[in-house]
Amino acid sequence: MRHFGHSPRRLRSDGGTFDHRYPPGKVSDSGLALQKLVADVNGKRILEVGSGTGHWLEFLNAPDRFLVGLDYSRGMLSNAQIKGVSADLVQGDAGQLPVKPGEFNFVYCVHALHHFASPESFIVEAQRMLCSGGVLAILGSDFPANRENWYIYEYFEGVYETDINRFPPWKDVVGWMVKNGFELIELDEVEHILDYKKGADVLRDPYLQKHACSQLALLSDGAYQEGMSKIESDLVQAEEDGRQIVFKSEIAIMMLSGRKAQ
Ligand SMILES: C[S@@+](CC[C@H](N)C(=O)[O-])C[C@H]1O[C@@H](n2cnc3c(N)ncnc32)[C@H](O)[C@@H]1O
Repeated sequence: MRHFGHSPRRLRSDGGTFDHRYPPGKVSDSGLALQKLVADVNGKRILEVGSGTGHWLEFLNAPDRFLVGLDYSRGMLSNAQIKGVSADLVQGDAGQLPVKPGEFNFVYCVHALHHFASPESFIVEAQRMLCSGGVLAILGSDFPANRENWYIYEYFEGVYETDINRFPPWKDVVGWMVKNGFELIELDEVEHILDYKKGADVLRDPYLQKHACSQLALLSDGAYQEGMSKIESDLVQAEEDGRQIVFKSEIAIMMLSGRKAQ
């Protein structure tokens, strides 16, 4: 395939807190579901759109697979390159994929659809990138299913409302896939995260770091500090009262897949 965009060698890193969400050696249920789907449909020429630091590309790497990671961010691509991810890394936009039509038999994105300016344009593009019979898989959380499900929504002002606007409802995404010629469409919950952090343990939650999830990364430094101060003062108050606060995170990870009609 053609190599597009800037050479990843010239890209600079933007730090690395994003990968704190992936503890070394731990394989998630959503990763296993993705791996199984790739094996079931015999994915060989594989494109991840919004590939970030290359975590999923590394996970799917196999000698008989040709892997390409595309991302908008030079910093993310640079991190992937520094890690030595075995894939072609390309800078580009999900709404206008710089790849030859029909080049891939598996296209996927993970936790990225809500970042794209037009998620529907990504589906149109993915359909164009796939060969006939190729498969598209979209993995992502069911945010913002419920304000009570994630303590981040409670402590950081405006984050829930921003998520309502960012995350397209899954039923809309299914509709775009149908409209764009996908068949055998399936939507399944592939992972259910239920985590309770007790008391000050919450301060060790990797998602609570400013750049570990987009919800907090989008906040100004001031708004982030305000949320952190609320957590800290609630912890102090609880200790004075002899109580323990339990911080809940309940998140379902969904996988939507479909085949490009033959
Ligand atoms: C939350 S990260 C997910 C990264 C990776 N898929 C993972 O799960 O570890 C979302 C990624 O989408 C990328 N992204 C955002 N908008 C994009 C666009 N329009 N085209 C391509 N990538 C984009 C971001 O740069 C970021 O790396």
